[in-house]
Amino acid sequence: MRKNVIAGNWKMNNDLNASIRLISELKKELSDKNPNVKIIICPPFTSLETASALIKDSIIELGAQNMYSEESGAFTGEISPNMLVSVGCKYVILGHSERRTIFNEPNQLINKKIKAAVKNNLAPIFCVGETLSERENGITFKVVEQQITEGLEGLSETELQNLIIAYEPVWAIGTGRNATPEQAQEVHKFIRELISKLYSSSFAANITIQYGGSVKPENSIELMSQPDIDGALVGGACLKADSFIKIVESI
Ligand code: PGA
Repeated sequence: MRKNVIAGNWKMNNDLNASIRLISELKKELSDKNPNVKIIICPPFTSLETASALIKDSIIELGAQNMYSEESGAFTGEISPNMLVSVGCKYVILGHSERRTIFNEPNQLINKKIKAAVKNNLAPIFCVGETLSERENGITFKVVEQQITEGLEGLSETELQNLIIAYEPVWAIGTGRNATPEQAQEVHKFIRELISKLYSSSFAANITIQYGGSVKPENSIELMSQPDIDGALVGGACLKADSFIKIVESI
């Protein structure tokens, strides 16, 4: 059975002290009473090492929000996969729409990053999703298909055993306007069928596909109850312990 995964993408929020506060609040409430949910937090780089120590002996797992595709070298300002592993990360968000649009990351770079992540035993949380104009022009499936085929090019089913896909319609991120459960389900089903075509039906049946884009306690039960939605990638609502916990509990 697929496990639901709720991941909190903190983005560029929370300095070290604020990170410590949020993690202690989360730890108090999140225990193994939620056995069907995997819970991941993705703080900024500067809080990862401390976060890793704080979540030890809890059910919370650690992810990073980005990384570069090389192991080391003259790449000022970048962080490598092995550096993330060395501070306790198990996951890394790749291809987030803010990386694609603000930092101009193309599918080919995201593909290199996914390859580097799996080589280092980091599970990629691979984000895909269409913009508003792409949705209005009726090319949502085409865009998502291209992001997935180019993003996963050259990667085998074995290499992708720990892959998580996050469908995040760009128009729903940080806007308060979530996709309806039906709109999200339609794309999730499309993604699962595409993975089945590219790999195998058993691999597709087992892959976790999260929804992201204005997930909050008020809409999470409905979204999470869709058959092909296996959890959420949460931005704004993960910055307050009580709303993140309510989302976890909605599973
Ligand atoms: P949001 O962000 O929940 O604030 O819309 C989601 C994301 O960017 O992963």
